This record gives sequence, structure tokens and C-alpha cells, in this order.
Amino acid sequence: MKDLKWWQKTNVYQVYPKSFLDTTGSGTGDLNGVTAKLDYLKTLGVGAVWLTPVYPSPMVDNGYDIADFTGIDPSYGTMADMERLIAEAKERHISIVMDLVYNHTSDKHPWFVDSAASRDSAHADWYIWRDAKPNGEPPTNWRSIFGGSAWTWCEARQQYYLHTFASAQPDLNWENPAVRQALYEAANFWLGKGVGGFRIDAIVYIKKPPVFADGEPDSDDGMVNVHSMIANTPGILDFLHEFKDKVFVGHDIFTVAEANGVEPKDLDKWVGDKGAFDMLFEFSHTTLEFPSGEIWTQATGYTPNLIPRLKKVLTDSQKATAHNGWYPIFFENHDQMRCVDHYFPAEADKKLAAKAMATLIMTLRGTPFIYEGQELGLGNVAWSSIQDYNDISSHGQYQLALGEGKSESEALRLVHRYSRDNARTPMQWTSEKNAGFTAGHPWLPVHADFREQCVESESLDENSVLSFYRRLAKLRMGGEVAEVLQRGDFAELLPKNASIMAFKRQLGTTAVYTLVNFSGEMRAYDLPELTETKAISESITGSQVGRLRPWEAVVYVGKAGAKS
Ligand code: NOJ
Repeated sequence: MKDLKWWQKTNVYQVYPKSFLDTTGSGTGDLNGVTAKLDYLKTLGVGAVWLTPVYPSPMVDNGYDIADFTGIDPSYGTMADMERLIAEAKERHISIVMDLVYNHTSDKHPWFVDSAASRDSAHADWYIWRDAKPNGEPPTNWRSIFGGSAWTWCEARQQYYLHTFASAQPDLNWENPAVRQALYEAANFWLGKGVGGFRIDAIVYIKKPPVFADGEPDSDDGMVNVHSMIANTPGILDFLHEFKDKVFVGHDIFTVAEANGVEPKDLDKWVGDKGAFDMLFEFSHTTLEFPSGEIWTQATGYTPNLIPRLKKVLTDSQKATAHNGWYPIFFENHDQMRCVDHYFPAEADKKLAAKAMATLIMTLRGTPFIYEGQELGLGNVAWSSIQDYNDISSHGQYQLALGEGKSESEALRLVHRYSRDNARTPMQWTSEKNAGFTAGHPWLPVHADFREQCVESESLDENSVLSFYRRLAKLRMGGEVAEVLQRGDFAELLPKNASIMAFKRQLGTTAVYTLVNFSGEMRAYDLPELTETKAISESITGSQVGRLRPWEAVVYVGKAGAKS
């Protein structure tokens, strides 16, 4: 068996810097706040920190609209702060991972400003420009991912430009070699600063189809989600391999690409020795409630049959990356609702739910990606008006829902469940004012429950979600069990069981068994090979082989196949 790389043996922690820790009283987090918490991250077995974008940005999409790929937004600090963060992290064997947002820029990026100025400018061909239809309408009926047409009219050029996301995020023209060169240079700039990897945003959209045509409408607005029209267009892999050759090759870093819509069966073209990246975020387990693309009005909400489907997609991903590629295990990020609300019904015990997800993230095969606050067991928020929400996609989806005839309260209910702000509330450090996040006025409200759910109080409680994560992180990082968790094979157990997710990780003769009960009922199961095992992690003390209490999660270790 090949030796694992450093990033296959560690935990990655995702920081949403705006919400992590504010050291200036501005109300928004900053880079020095991340530096201040590196020792905290070490207690979670973290060897890499993925920072969502900290570059200069008008913040229409909280930094995913970038105006300068090689700078630092003043609200986050300075380049010197960034260099200090990278250096202090390195001293603790933590790598800083930057977010590369290369499908689009901000409309305030000098490249776009120049491109929009005239059809003859130096950057005229750096974005996707098209003439209007003869009747003046946008070139196609594509709806942007944040709602509304994916085309915006430009007076100066008398043309439309394409934006997969907000109109303030024009798509770059990757067909132009000068564009690609400029992007590679920016990534190499960060390698020169000593970063340890890249998360690559929205990469499936960089290649556009040769012909732009209307699609079959998927909603009453007569439009079709642009995703279904441009994602994973043939030829995209040529760009990605060039990207790899010009930037990643020869560096001891990892790359993880956001690849919505790449199926596990296609993974080998994207990841592994012959693929373009080390890992892919694929979303089959986060989109289970969306049968036809992420249109919130068409979502099913939580239903118990989510669990058999969750089991299936997780198992498929584990199998797909068994021999080639590697899996980033994640249940949350800055775009998702909190996992305790995602995979559990409203009446579930949220602390046990959080421990169940912790058990999965730390025992599946792959690299665990923990999103800030997940280790505290944070849940969703539900604010009383759409005006309280900052997330641009919440506003777009709310309007779409009203357009489809939903009432304001129905539309707001959808926002409560799916808003990206669920994951963006300030990190909860202490039981003091604003959860210790800021001495100023926080940019988003702090959760009401912060006194019980914060690093300070959970650190003092052996039974807390945080203490549970820390114990699991220890298991995963050192000793015989760690070897099994890092390198062992994966085999699904109890495949037909509709509420228990169970699997075995095996290396040589040692097996680690994970069992999670996603239901609020006591569940019996029959697995004879567990009889001579011992429990090494229990979400409720006193586990017994053969039954799981409501929402219980347990990990056993033993000799593989002793009784099978
Ligand atoms: C995916 C990012 O995760 C999300 O936050 C962002 O809005 C879009 N890409 C656009 O960059």
C-alpha cells in the first residue's frame, strides 16, 4: 500500500473569516483572529485551515466576488498579517489553504472594468460577451444560480455579459490563454507565500458550451438553471490539466475542487494520479432534498427516507474513491445548513445528532473537513424577516418563491431551512457578550444559545460535543486505531437497514466498526462479528452490541471477521 500524504492523515478545518474572530471591534472577523486561534485548532487534530476568500472584494457575495487575486481585503488585515498567519501556522504544523475563485471575478475587478468599457479594450475578450436576441432580450433564458437572468446588459458595449452567479460576478473567458495565464500567476503568487493548498471554487462552470441555446424552463419564470446548461462541458478537463501542470505539480500541497455535479463514477478523470485534483467536493449527500437542482421551492425538506439515500450516496463515494482519488469528508460548509438540522428531524436530540455526525466524519475513509461551529454542534437560525438575511442567494430564492405564488411566510420558511446564513453566524467562543466574537456590533446576529454552546463552556464539559470531537480527533491521529481510520478499507454493513448507518474499516486483522442510529427509536441489529469487540467511542455511555438507543452513535474495535 502506498504511503499516505500528509493531508490524508490530518483534519482540515474550514474558517469563514468574516465570522471567526474579530480582533479590532469592527464587527467582522479578521486574519489576526485566525492566528489567535491556531492553538485551539490544534486540539481538533487540525493540520490545514481552509480560508474562504480574504482578497479585496466589494463583498456582494462575501468575498467570492474578487477585485484583486493577490491582495488582502483591508477588513481582514494586511499582507503582513497574512504572512504572519502562514508562518505561525507552519510552526504548529498547520498549512493555510487558500480559496481560488477562478470562474468569475468581481465586476469591480480592473479586468472587468476595462472589458466593459469598450469592445476594443485590452481586456475586451476576458469575459463572456454576447449580443442581445433580435428583440433585445438576453441571449438565452438561463437563470443565474442566485436567481434572475444569468445575463446583464452593458450600455457601453451594447452587449450582455454572462454571470453564473450574481451580476456582480461576471464569468471569465477561459478560452482566452491570457486569462488562464493571469490566473495561474495569481495561484503561483500564493504558493510563493507558502500556502499549503487550494480549494478551487465553482470549477465545473469554467468551460462554456460552443453554442449558447435556450433550455427547457424549470420554473414559472420561463428560465432554466444555468447549472444544467454549462456544468462540466466537454473539454473542461483540458483546462484543468493545464492548470495542474502550470501550478500544482511539484508542490507538496493539496487541491480540493468544488465540483457540483461530478458523479462518483466520473471521479477518476478528476482526481487521483491521472486526475486534475487531489480531492473533489461532490454534493450528492447535501443535495438529497433537491430532486431537480437547487430550487428551494422544489425541495422536499427533511423526510425519513433521506437516511437510506444518505447511506447510499456516502457508500457510493467511499467505493468510488477506494482505489483512486481521495475523499474529503464533509457535512457542512459556508453554503450549507447545519448538519444537525439537515439529517435529523426537528424533535431529535441535537447534541446526540452532532455527535452522530462527528462519529461519521471521523471514521469514514478520507480527510475530515470540519466547518467552524460544527464542533460545537451549532444548529440553524430562523430570523423573522427576509431583511435580516445577508446571504445573496436567500434573497434570490425568496423572490423566486414569491414569483411562484408562495406567501411571504412560506418563502421565509424555505429561507429558514436553506439559507447560507445558517452557517455564517459568528463563532461562539465564550459566554460573554457576543459570544466573545467581537467587542463591536456583530455583522450577523450571534445564536441565542451561545452561553451553553461555546468553546469556553464546552471545553469544561466532558460530555459536550466539542469534547467528543477532541476525543475522536485523538483516536484518528495516533495509535493502532488511527492507522485503521486513515488507511483501512471501507465496507458497508447493514445495507438494507433504513435507519442505521453501519460500516467497517479494516486494516490487516484490525477492524473498526461504526454504527449510527438516525432514528428516535431504539433499534436492534444483528452483526455477529461485533461480539468480541470493545467500544472506543460512545455518544451515550453504556452501549451494547445488538442495539442502538435513539440517535446513538458508537465505534467498536476488534479483530476483523472474528465471528463472521
Ligand atoms: C461556491 C461558494 O462556496 C459560494 O459561497 C459562492 O457563492 C459561489 N461558489 C460563487 O463563487
